[in-house]
Amino acid sequence: MASDENVSVGGTGVAGFDDLDVDVLSARCGAKWARAVAEGLIPAWVADMDFPVAPPIAEALHRLIDRSDLGYPDWSHGTPLREEFAHRMRERYGWEPDPGAVREQTDLIQAFQIVLRLSVTRGDAVAIQTPNYPPFLASVRRMGLQQIDFPFVDRGDGWVPDFEAFEPVVARRRPRVLVLVNPHNPTGRVHTREELERIADIAERFDMLVVSDEIHAELIHEPHRHIPFASLGPEIAARTVTLTSASKAFNLAGLRCAVVHYGSSVLLRRRDAEPFDLYGTVSAPGVIATLAAWREGDAWQRDLLRVLDRNRRRVDEVLRERIPAARHHLPQGTYLTWVDTGPLGIDDPVSVVGERGKILVDGGVRFGSGAGSFLRINFATSASILERILDGVTDALVS
Ligand SMILES: Cc1ncc(COP(=O)(O)O)c(C=O)c1O
Repeated sequence: MASDENVSVGGTGVAGFDDLDVDVLSARCGAKWARAVAEGLIPAWVADMDFPVAPPIAEALHRLIDRSDLGYPDWSHGTPLREEFAHRMRERYGWEPDPGAVREQTDLIQAFQIVLRLSVTRGDAVAIQTPNYPPFLASVRRMGLQQIDFPFVDRGDGWVPDFEAFEPVVARRRPRVLVLVNPHNPTGRVHTREELERIADIAERFDMLVVSDEIHAELIHEPHRHIPFASLGPEIAARTVTLTSASKAFNLAGLRCAVVHYGSSVLLRRRDAEPFDLYGTVSAPGVIATLAAWREGDAWQRDLLRVLDRNRRRVDEVLRERIPAARHHLPQGTYLTWVDTGPLGIDDPVSVVGERGKILVDGGVRFGSGAGSFLRINFATSASILERILDGVTDALVS
């Protein structure tokens, strides 16, 4: 495994992170590369990383295969993830969730929809930060719920929640649920304690359940810090459902394994009253990989964070130099950059970047109203592929 000592984030590249081969990546069946290759593009879309899997996770999965241990898993008393999640929250953030209130789901979107089904009915209002991860917005729409935007505003030096716009709307339309994504996708914003306390105050005053997606919590750049929403205090913990997974910080989305912590005992009882198999179960490889990530993956993750920090700075530098009119901020967390091409006056920036630059990026349209001129660029790749992406994007936008 790579250690702190042998990582140099400089011109020579970082072993395991910078020696990626486009031909090898192109053979992957995962959506990120498969779709890009089919379109003749290099991918910088969807939140998956290009790096090889962390060695302890690979070893744990190899051991599972070597034992041919792919029969039915025995999760009749829950998975070991319940204790491990509680342990990790305690160690990292000083938050002590009850392992007995943790349940497993295949992914956050499933978990999100289950929590909504258990807590609201068609026609109810749900407050959600905008812009936002498109499947959350699509879930709210498809479930027949009214979407109430909790917008971010660009204050010039960064994205901040627009409390002034949000509070009067909450008072008028009384959403039952508030969806918080922290660290935030796509802005890369990490909320401060002060902001979280203000959100908690609104949730308490208007009696809202808070669904807190913390999937990017371990992808935070110095000096920013993650604060689990439920750690703010017992009252807020009792109205919070926390969703997370090792899938972002360790790149395991294909293994379909996530955890949900129910701070609300009422909701947990409702969830447990559902037919046992209704929501399916997580797979043994998903659980084994998540355990290996959380128990043995920290050294790899420290190296990862140095590479991501280098990459986010490079993206920032290049965008400022080559397309100074485009607006963006150095992300505080995640491996995603949110760029407003509006001032460049381009109608369909995603198509322009695809056709002229040969790079596949996500467009803002699906992230909420008013975001059509934005691009989301994924920078979790090697130094040399990142240069290709940046050349493609900037050449396309300036030509
Ligand atoms: C904020 C956020 N939540 C949830 C997800 C998806 O998680 P899952 O694959 O577990 O559904 C993503 C994926 O990019 C994300 O960025």
